[in-house]
Amino acid sequence: MYVVLRQIRVLVVAAAGLSGSLAMAADANHGSDLAKRWCATCHVVNSEQKQASTDAPPFAVIARKSDFTPEKIAFFLLDPHPKMPSFPLGRSEAADLAAYIGSLRK
Ligand code: HEC
Repeated sequence: MYVVLRQIRVLVVAAAGLSGSLAMAADANHGSDLAKRWCATCHVVNSEQKQASTDAPPFAVIARKSDFTPEKIAFFLLDPHPKMPSFPLGRSEAADLAAYIGSLRK
């Protein structure tokens, strides 16, 4: 388990170090699945979900922020802040989640 976690760390660091457009080839449908699996305990991730367990902002609210960009969210997810647990997110998963959140922007 420990070794696996270390490998994930290395991967995340490597991913964060890569430049280029994270939003490219992102799959919002996959992002939606990931959001339901990993994020829905704390965030309201879609309009069907009625409530989450914390005061974390719903994804639709995050998407509507004036400074929202999928790139920012993807980078944010590769280096989550302390209130959020770290996820074993790869670069493409972060991009897919970001694309999904972006798709909620109306
Ligand atoms: C354990 C609860 C928890 C889980 C699970 C969680 N989050 Fe969060 N998230 C939070 C909280 C709490 C905040 C608000 C933090 C703050 O305001 O400082 C937040 C904030 C955010 C933000 C806002 C950043 C900003 O700039 O406003 C994004 C984006 C986000 N989460 C995405 C995700 C994604 C994607 C997942 C699933 C991979 C996820 N979160 C899973 C608790 C969680």
